[in-house]
Amino acid sequence: MSNNKIQIFDTTLRDGEQVPGCKLNTEQKVIIAKQLDALGVDVIEAGFPVSSPGDFKSVEAISKIVKNATVCGLTRSVENDIKVASEALKYAVKPRIHTGIGTSDSHIVHKFKTTKEAILERAYAAVKYAKSFVEDVEFYAEDAGRTDNEYLARVCETAIKAGATVLNIPDTTGYCLPSEYGAKIKYLKENVKGIEKAILSCHCHNDLGLATANSIEGVINGARQIECTINGIGERAGNTALEEVVMVLKQHPYLKLDTDINTSMLYGLSQLVSDSMGIYTQPNKAIVGANAFAHSSGIHQDGVIKNRETYEIMDPKDVGVTESAIVLTARSGRAALAYRAKNVGYELTKLQLDEVYANFLHFADQKKEINDSDIHEIIETSKVYKEILSN
Ligand code: KIV
Ligand code: ZN
Repeated sequence: MSNNKIQIFDTTLRDGEQVPGCKLNTEQKVIIAKQLDALGVDVIEAGFPVSSPGDFKSVEAISKIVKNATVCGLTRSVENDIKVASEALKYAVKPRIHTGIGTSDSHIVHKFKTTKEAILERAYAAVKYAKSFVEDVEFYAEDAGRTDNEYLARVCETAIKAGATVLNIPDTTGYCLPSEYGAKIKYLKENVKGIEKAILSCHCHNDLGLATANSIEGVINGARQIECTINGIGERAGNTALEEVVMVLKQHPYLKLDTDINTSMLYGLSQLVSDSMGIYTQPNKAIVGANAFAHSSGIHQDGVIKNRETYEIMDPKDVGVTESAIVLTARSGRAALAYRAKNVGYELTKLQLDEVYANFLHFADQKKEINDSDIHEIIETSKVYKEILSN
């Protein structure tokens, strides 16, 4: 594998599905998993098998149908969790067990009421036990974002000694600044003995809106896997959005960090996940929101009609959106009106456009958005309608 390849670990079906009220059944999960496999993700985290019989069944069903990606199941550092995950993953072509434990002072003192040394022992035992079932074991240091770097390095060394192939460094609470998260990854790259035997993975939550920025800083500083979800769904403010990190790397080729994602499938997958989970995607959502390629102010519309690149940094087709939209509102100018009128069959001269535009403003002040049938009505009720017909 090239050293510049960033593995995409999709956790829509595990961390993403933790959104309250968004439970998916096995059939829905299998449909999404098939699409994720076709999208080109490297790892599909299919669920947390010990958590419920339904989740076990979903992980098992996904393991049977996924052809290319590694299929992963989450566990705590608990023997029974690991055993159950290994059973759910037994049909996977490439199975991975994802085990781990909280490592911040807050988790050690309040959640586990134990000591740092005891956490190291549990981490070692969990990875070792997982290795007795599968070769590929990922270890997560939960709340690594708030874990001091020196101790985190010891945790990572312990997991590597036990055989971990991937070290997940979650910013579980979405607390880190990008510079801080990047520095954490750099510190681990430079200070963990045996780090060349494992890859570092970014798992960033979005509580401060920094998940994408933190994941990108992570890979710039040496991580080689990003954990993310479609539409950024997940606990609280969500996870890193898959479509965002993939497009950041694609649109900044000088970073020389690639993924294997077929980006033209991004919009379709976003719609599939949103419809299946019943979670509406905000219109201004980067890459996949309804307004991501829509232009409504006169100045922008004039620019985009002359050359799309004046106000767009990506080709909508690259993410599966058929074309940029010129939205007509009371803020739109003549160029946009002429463009949309032409699309519905009217080629207007400059003088005709002046006349129709005055009528358009009158209409647009009454309505939020002008659609194609409104354009017909605006033209038909203009003084110059007969003249336009004879054009
Ligand atoms: O956010 C987190 O720390 C997690 C781990 C369980 C990987 O989701
Ligand atoms: Zn998480």
